[in-house]
Amino acid sequence: MNLIETKALVYYYGAGTPFEIRALDCVDLSLCRGGIKAVIGHTGSGKSTLIQHFNALLKPASGKVFFQGKNINESKESAYRIRFKIGLCFQYPEYQLFEDTVYRDIAFGPKNMGLSPEETERAVKKAAAYVGIEPELFERSPFELSGGQKRRIAIAGVMAMDPDVLILDEPTAGLDPSGREMILRMICDYRKKTDKTVMLVSHSMDDVARIADEVIVVDHGKIAMQGSVEEIFSHSSELTAMGLSVPEVTGITDKLRNAGCSLPTGIYTVEQAADAICAYLSGRCPK
Ligand SMILES: Nc1ncnc2c1ncn2[C@@H]1O[C@H](COP(=O)(O)OP(=O)(O)OP(=O)(O)O)[C@@H](O)[C@H]1O
Ligand SMILES: [Mg+2]
Repeated sequence: MNLIETKALVYYYGAGTPFEIRALDCVDLSLCRGGIKAVIGHTGSGKSTLIQHFNALLKPASGKVFFQGKNINESKESAYRIRFKIGLCFQYPEYQLFEDTVYRDIAFGPKNMGLSPEETERAVKKAAAYVGIEPELFERSPFELSGGQKRRIAIAGVMAMDPDVLILDEPTAGLDPSGREMILRMICDYRKKTDKTVMLVSHSMDDVARIADEVIVVDHGKIAMQGSVEEIFSHSSELTAMGLSVPEVTGITDKLRNAGCSLPTGIYTVEQAADAICAYLSGRCPK
C-alpha cells in the first residue's frame, strides 16, 4: 500500500476571482514509505501547495489525497488527525515561534495532542536531541537565539509530535553554509535513527543529490518526473527546460569529459567526483 497517494488533485488560489491560479493541475502521485524524498521545481511550480495537501492544511478543489489508503479529507476528524501523522514544517518556520521559552515552543504540538506532562517532557527531550538543542537552552527565550538555532527549535516542535512523515519546506533556505550543513546532517541522522519517511522541498540540486533517495519534479502544477537521484539527474536537458539544473559538480565533470578526460557519467556528489577524478588521474600517472 502507498504511504501517500493523490488522485487527480486540483487546487486553485483565488478560485472564481479574476486572479484565479490553477496551482495544482490533476496531480497523480504515489509515494511509498521510507527514505528521504525531495520535491524540486522552479519557483511557483506548486511544491508548497502540493505538500500542504498531504496534511490537509489545504483542501483539494477536486481530486483526493490518501494516507495509507484512507482519504484524509473524508471527515473533519480525519483531516484533524492527519496533522499529527504528517508533520509539516513551513519555510522559515522560525517566524512561527511564539512561546516565551524554547521548552514551551517544542512542547506545543505534543501538548495539543493530549500527551501528559511526563510524556510531553520525554517527547521534547527526544526531539531537542535530534536537532542538537541542549536542555540548558530550554528555559531561554527562542528569540534570543541564533537563526540556525531558532530553525532547529521550530523543526523539533514538529518532530516532538512523532509524526509518521516529516515534511520540511526548504529547511536550509537563507542559512549560511555551516547552518545548512548542520540541518542536512540532522535530517539524515533523524531518518536513520527513526526510520521515518522524510520529505523535503529544496532548491539546491547539490543537497538533493547528497541526501535524497527519491526525487519528485514539479512543473506548472504537475508531476513532471519521479525517480531516483540517478534517474532524475540523467535528464539534464528536460530539467534545464523547466528552469532547473543538475548538481554543480555534475556540470563540472561533464565539462571535464567534454575536454577529453574519460570520467564516467552519473556523478552527482562531490564525493563521487573526487573518487572518479582520483581514479582517472591514478590511471594516467605512472606509479
Ligand atoms: N496564497 C496564495 N495566493 C495566491 N496565489 C498563490 C498563493 N500561494 C501560492 N500562489 C501561487 O500558486 C502557484 C504555486 O505556488 P507555490 O507556492 O506552491 O510554489 P512553489 O513551487 O512552492 O514556489 P517557491 O519555490 O517559490 O516556494 C504560484 O503561481 C504562486 O504564485
Ligand atoms: Mg514554496
